[in-house]
Amino acid sequence: MGAEETLKLLRQSSTYVSGEKISSSLKLSRTAVWKHIQSLRAMGYDIKAVRNRGYLLVDETAVLSPDKLQARLDEAGVPVTIDHTPSLPSTQTKAMRLAAEGAPAYTVVSADEQTGGRGRLGRPWSTPFGTALAISIIFRPEMDMREAPTATLTAAAAVAEALEEMNFRPQIKWPNDILLNGKKVCGILTEMQGEASRVSSLVMGIGINVNTEQFPEQLQEIATSLAIVRGAPVSREETAFHLLAELYERMIQFQLDGFQAVRPLWGKHALSYTKPVTVVQNRQRVTGIMKGIETDGTLLLEAEDGTVHSIVSGDIEGI
Ligand code: BTN
Repeated sequence: MGAEETLKLLRQSSTYVSGEKISSSLKLSRTAVWKHIQSLRAMGYDIKAVRNRGYLLVDETAVLSPDKLQARLDEAGVPVTIDHTPSLPSTQTKAMRLAAEGAPAYTVVSADEQTGGRGRLGRPWSTPFGTALAISIIFRPEMDMREAPTATLTAAAAVAEALEEMNFRPQIKWPNDILLNGKKVCGILTEMQGEASRVSSLVMGIGINVNTEQFPEQLQEIATSLAIVRGAPVSREETAFHLLAELYERMIQFQLDGFQAVRPLWGKHALSYTKPVTVVQNRQRVTGIMKGIETDGTLLLEAEDGTVHSIVSGDIEGI
């Protein structure tokens, strides 16, 4: 919260704003102001600090520098093209439109803020300015629509690997929620276009809570961010770099060798349950012990009477 207000004050001024002025306007301690300046810097804002003068916001375009990110990806041989906009209703909606218009594979639509972000099952997804990653990537895999669930699991494995590279300990909650310390840090939405059963484009929308400091009350028990877990701000650019590099690599693997090549990675991060879980699927509830996933991505649940249910899509209740 305070970081946003601090940013607002800095934006309103073309010269230095003293720490004293920020702390009195926002009724914050000088230490709190300093912490907010540090988190804004970690988000990519270029803020100069000069003794006896205060703080100056130098280059706002540095929020998530698409150019720097692009250069780093180019150097690493990840052939994506970043299409970044500060504010969009939804990167997913824009990427779906671009895909329909013929945009090439590996076009990456990103934004610093989404005003109408979309989650799975028609739920809303919030992306406040500068705190999270909101990215939608266009793929054009040679695949049948029935393989879509495994493409989504591949994306989940890639996100988990990317976060592990950044020294987090992610877990995947079937099918594709990424958790840290048992709370959701990332959601993935996969949408497709195609004819008959052939996929012409697959758009993967990934939302990662990077520097979110606080969640609305109803989400506090179930959501977290990288910064909350680390106890310090995390660079969005660094996160985007690891995410895109991993996603590209795993999707290539998926296209060349199928989901069987990625499945061990998904399994490595999968949340394991000792107690029965309940899965809600089309308003039906099935309870059982989780036995793992099949090569087509379906979840296997063994009910109390010994019958094994194969579940194509749904949500595991609770964590
Ligand atoms: C979920 O319900 O868990 C999936 C959330 C997916 C959110 C991402 S953020 C980037 C992209 N744009 C959207 O509007 N949604 C996806």
